[in-house]
Amino acid sequence: MMASDAMPVRLIDLAPAVADFRSEVLVGLSRPQKSLSPKFFYDGEGCRLFEAICDLPEYYLTRTEMHILTRHAGDIATALGAPVTLIELGSGSSRKVRLLLDAVRPRRYVPLDIARDHLFASASAIARDYPWLDVRPICVDYSHPFEFPDIADDSRRIAFFPGSSIGNFAPDEAVALLRSVASLLGRDGGLLIGYDLKKDPAVLHRAYNDAAGLTAAFNLNLLRRINRELEGDFELGRFDHSAHFASDDGRVEMHLVSRVDQVVGVSGQLFKFAAGESIHTENSYKYGMDQFVGLAANAGFRPLQTWTDAGRLFCVQLFGLDDSRAGLFADAT
Ligand code: AVI
Repeated sequence: MMASDAMPVRLIDLAPAVADFRSEVLVGLSRPQKSLSPKFFYDGEGCRLFEAICDLPEYYLTRTEMHILTRHAGDIATALGAPVTLIELGSGSSRKVRLLLDAVRPRRYVPLDIARDHLFASASAIARDYPWLDVRPICVDYSHPFEFPDIADDSRRIAFFPGSSIGNFAPDEAVALLRSVASLLGRDGGLLIGYDLKKDPAVLHRAYNDAAGLTAAFNLNLLRRINRELEGDFELGRFDHSAHFASDDGRVEMHLVSRVDQVVGVSGQLFKFAAGESIHTENSYKYGMDQFVGLAANAGFRPLQTWTDAGRLFCVQLFGLDDSRAGLFADAT
């Protein structure tokens, strides 16, 4: 079949409404420490900027994880067994799963992402390039529990959660998310997850304060999106990008810091900023391996295999369900 004749993928659309975006933004800007969820970074421009960040020399995360996946694709395939359904959380450009597809040969690929157009384009490209694969994209905010479509078959469900996106959730939220992931998987399901390891704060500082200014543009783009979609009047030149490692919490924090005293309107509501006051836009938690295994255990997962790089910058780990969680599926067919 010619590439252009490939069957178009059908997207299942469970995307949140603009009203949900509005109410989360208005609540976040009303808090004493103003905050916005990092899930809102990913409009069209945000997706484009994030892809560019992934290629930056300072942003070691993507290339290190890709190196691990490439090097160990065969072992990962053996550990997953066959046949599998790969469910990718926050699939974005689907760049990393491509490193596994030839080795794993899953029966089905279910990419989940909140950015509809980006998801559709990436899933269509996967369907075109891997014509033997059943591709079922779902546009969804996976940070909230959702109804997983009934795809009845005997394949092993593997949640693939690369990119250290788990680091964008506070530990208690991460446990809640992984619990809801566990409930999607079935008795013999697994979790293949990539997370960023603790390291020299100077390396982290460079990764989130790149010389080209792409991370700053990515952070500020959130205000542009609010202006466009929620009738906001943020002046981008009146805010600075700021990112620092908060050692007590083990996380990189990103903020947008007001340069001046100002009042900003969003959807008809007014928000006062003092000079130096910030909107907290992202946390990026960095874990020790034992610490992460403990977190996953609280969600009902037990570690099966671990892959890392020589510099111990990043970790990819396969988890199975522990007996208590697997017991939930004891009666499942
Ligand atoms: C998607 N997420 C894991 C990235 C991170 O490193 O926390 C988003 C990002 N923020 C700034 N640069 C990249």
